[in-house]
Amino acid sequence: MTRNEFQKAGFHAKRDYLRAQGVRVSSQMKSADFNAIYDAMNPTTTARTENSQCAQPDTQRALQIATRATGEQNETATQITTMNNTNTHSAIAQPQIAQTDAAQQAQTMMMNALEIMMKAQPATPATDEARVIELIHEHAPKPPTLEIKVAELPSVETARQHFKFPLLLICAANGVHTMLTGEAGSGKTSAAKAVAQCLDLDFYAQSFCETTSKADMQGFMNARGEYVPTNFRTAFGNGALFCADEFDAGNPNSNVVINAALANDECGFPDGMQTKSADFVVVACANTFGTGANSKYVGRNKLDAATLDRFACIRWDIDPTLEAAMLGINEPAPAFDLAEGGLVEDHEWLEIIRAARSKASELGSQMLISPRATKNGAKLARAGVGATHLKEMFIFKGCDERTRQALQI
Ligand SMILES: Nc1ncnc2c1ncn2[C@@H]1O[C@H](COP(=O)(O)OP(=O)(O)OP(=O)(O)O)[C@@H](O)[C@H]1O
Ligand SMILES: [Mg+2]
Repeated sequence: MTRNEFQKAGFHAKRDYLRAQGVRVSSQMKSADFNAIYDAMNPTTTARTENSQCAQPDTQRALQIATRATGEQNETATQITTMNNTNTHSAIAQPQIAQTDAAQQAQTMMMNALEIMMKAQPATPATDEARVIELIHEHAPKPPTLEIKVAELPSVETARQHFKFPLLLICAANGVHTMLTGEAGSGKTSAAKAVAQCLDLDFYAQSFCETTSKADMQGFMNARGEYVPTNFRTAFGNGALFCADEFDAGNPNSNVVINAALANDECGFPDGMQTKSADFVVVACANTFGTGANSKYVGRNKLDAATLDRFACIRWDIDPTLEAAMLGINEPAPAFDLAEGGLVEDHEWLEIIRAARSKASELGSQMLISPRATKNGAKLARAGVGATHLKEMFIFKGCDERTRQALQI
């Protein structure tokens, strides 16, 4: 075989290969383009394009072909323009044919070049899902936040909250267990969770009902003699905000199980005595003040006075401006003064407590005003809570208007 015959055979093999790939190979195609396209289409060559590091030369070659093809198209266009200017029908007909050939040739080259470029694109990097989520968070419209500064506590940033939220926050921050009483849907459970977030505490919530048991709170020893703990026990020992949800639906006798844990620094669990974490605090949520079922909340129980005594009670009425804020309607929140009624010294608070207790006794009232009220009230007074709130939380506790007046405090 002569060298010429060998080259010709090689050319025919390449041409047949390209045609089999659907590439239009015309006799006018320049041999350099022909070879470049063959190299780019040849599987042994294109395999390299999957590796982004090898993609560059192929891309460049494709660009060269594309540039040349564009040049030829422009050249054709110039010829057509020139010939059109002669304004003869035959002259117009001729360049149109010329355009068809040259333009088709150029178009084929462009298509080939594009195909090569597409193959030469480096593989798309895998989508970084975490980064996408991060960007969504970064750029998504954020609900307006509220900066709350309560007395000596460091200020906290939170979403829009109930107008009494600062009072709940300061109670929890001082380790004072609180019971929120309000209509269904007034935002009690949500507020408890938001307080945990503001204080950077873990949050556990458990709904109470008639059959909530001692084991549900304290845990139990299983058949293998292993202790099975509960959220309450974890919160007590490790520190967390425990939300005793629907607390007034609990059985008053079972609820007493947590009395010791709520009042003391140590508490017995099935696996032995445990020491309370300094970060343990309970927020109970209820629809009544523990006064028993009424025509509206028929599934509620009258709670034991000793259990109730462990909580500061806050009336959590519906905040109409929070309700509006849920719909994005911005209305000014009702005025709330944490120091309302003035700050009282320890001895003044003690006098208020004693006066209320003796009047209640005189009236034959069942009210319990214990030293816990004295101690926790003084603690909150020192933290900046005014006398009006202290009386509501530790003495009146949702009592009727007649009793409230009769106490004369
Ligand atoms: N600060 C808030 N911002 C936005 N939505 C809130 C806020 N507080 C409460 N909500 C919404 O209001 C609804 C009722 O709140 P939540 O469940 O806390 O009420 P609740 O007082 O615990 O009710 P229930 O007594 O029936 O348990 C929920 O849909 C809650 O998402
Ligand atoms: Mg709730």
